[in-house]
Amino acid sequence: MGRKKKYLIITFGCQMNVLDSERMEGFLRELGWEEASDIQQAHLILINTCTVREKPERKALSLLGRLCKKKSSSLYPIVGICGCVAQQYGEELLVRFSGLNFVLGTNQVYRLKEALEKAEKGERFAFTDWLEAKKSSCLFTTSRYRPVKGVSAFVTIMEGCDNFCAYCIVPYVRGRERSRDPKDIISEIEWLAEQGVKEVVLLGQNVNSYGLKNGFGVDFPELLKMVCGVEGIKRVRFTTNHPKDLSDKLIEVMAEEEKICEQIHLPLQAGSNKILKLMGRGYTREKYLELVEKLRKAMPEVGISTDLIVGFPGESEEDFKQTLEMVKLVEFDEAFTFKYTPRPFTRARTYPEQVPEEIKRERLYQLEELVERITEEKNQKQVGKSKEILLEGESKKDPERLTGRSREGRLVHIPKQGAEKLIGEIIEVKIIEGLKHSLIGELLETKTENIWQGEEQCLLR
Ligand code: SAH
Ligand code: SF4
Ligand code: F3S
Repeated sequence: MGRKKKYLIITFGCQMNVLDSERMEGFLRELGWEEASDIQQAHLILINTCTVREKPERKALSLLGRLCKKKSSSLYPIVGICGCVAQQYGEELLVRFSGLNFVLGTNQVYRLKEALEKAEKGERFAFTDWLEAKKSSCLFTTSRYRPVKGVSAFVTIMEGCDNFCAYCIVPYVRGRERSRDPKDIISEIEWLAEQGVKEVVLLGQNVNSYGLKNGFGVDFPELLKMVCGVEGIKRVRFTTNHPKDLSDKLIEVMAEEEKICEQIHLPLQAGSNKILKLMGRGYTREKYLELVEKLRKAMPEVGISTDLIVGFPGESEEDFKQTLEMVKLVEFDEAFTFKYTPRPFTRARTYPEQVPEEIKRERLYQLEELVERITEEKNQKQVGKSKEILLEGESKKDPERLTGRSREGRLVHIPKQGAEKLIGEIIEVKIIEGLKHSLIGELLETKTENIWQGEEQCLLR
């Protein structure tokens, strides 16, 4: 009696899943559960999954298989699968994995408590229904882990996607596009600010089309202005954007509002107009270049990142060269590169002229090399500049360093000594080194302090 039950949540995939995991953690904490330090200790294991490509799907299912095999005949650990693979297969997973207790779809996170009660009675079931858009948009309201851990927090503003790009499974597993009521968004952000959060990252599959379908009478640029009005919030970011919906009004608001960071993730996917058309993306390379020009004109230091796919069906050597050319023309600050994999339900799966695996691999390699060279060069050009960074905490890779992001989204590491007290603050650093994926900086104030301390020591001696 009295010992708390323990949970472990294993998260794959994008920011949406990270936030859903935080929400589930919130529900569990409210029920008095605590986090387990390893699998052996856990009474409940939740795998929050991603199915955007074959690899994350395979990873999640093989983990599920291993967990179910290890499971003894007793009730614990309860094993639940949630997220996009859960939505994709639903009940089928209960048949495939006899040790699995429940399946919780992407629209059903709010029913976790109910799911636990049923599972603790020994029931096996799948909750994968879609709720009507209005109801579903109310359910975004988070019951996240309190107190919030970081200085930066994700906030969902819309979910789902109606674009149906030919390669993409997301609309099938995240459902139709629906926006959240601006009043709920603002009150969540006010609450976050009270908890000490300094930066919010607004999330949605396509944030630019916020408000267009639900009719709250507020579009994305207007919502951004409202968010900037929340006291205590110092920085605002958002992701992800669709080039076909990026308006001049949004660029204007980004340039005008001091709190909005000059950073944009703008997935290009491919550099050839023929492939963009086959993908159903709704823009051309020329239109994309025009957007980049507008963004840079309005915000010369803007950080532009992108997603690129190689080996989409029908991609010739010439088409691929055009992707390389776009990377050189735009000089992205960061690019996430993927090998095309056919996904269930999608149109491209049935397209003729699927590209052989070796060619995809070779193209990915060439693209990665080019992207890395360009990002490294761009990072090196930052040396000597001074940057404002929001110091977020200890670096994941090096405990002797602290990490933060510059306004344009670059990861900056600084030496830890003397700077811990500044976590959560916006500080000024000077960049002293540019690496492949990050920058090294030094704190301007600490430097002055150290010199002073040095002098004092000299005087004392
Ligand atoms: N809503 C986001 C995309 C989320 S998926 C957007 O439109 O930006 C993240 C990325 O995965 C996509 O941008 C795309 O580059 C990649 N992706 C999606 N489906 C894929 C597939 N079948 N094969 C390879 N990459 C894929
Ligand atoms: Fe997928 Fe396209 Fe929607 Fe992005 S915009 S989630 S790539 S269908
Ligand atoms: Fe993956 Fe689902 Fe996000 S498929 S990318 S976790 S929306």
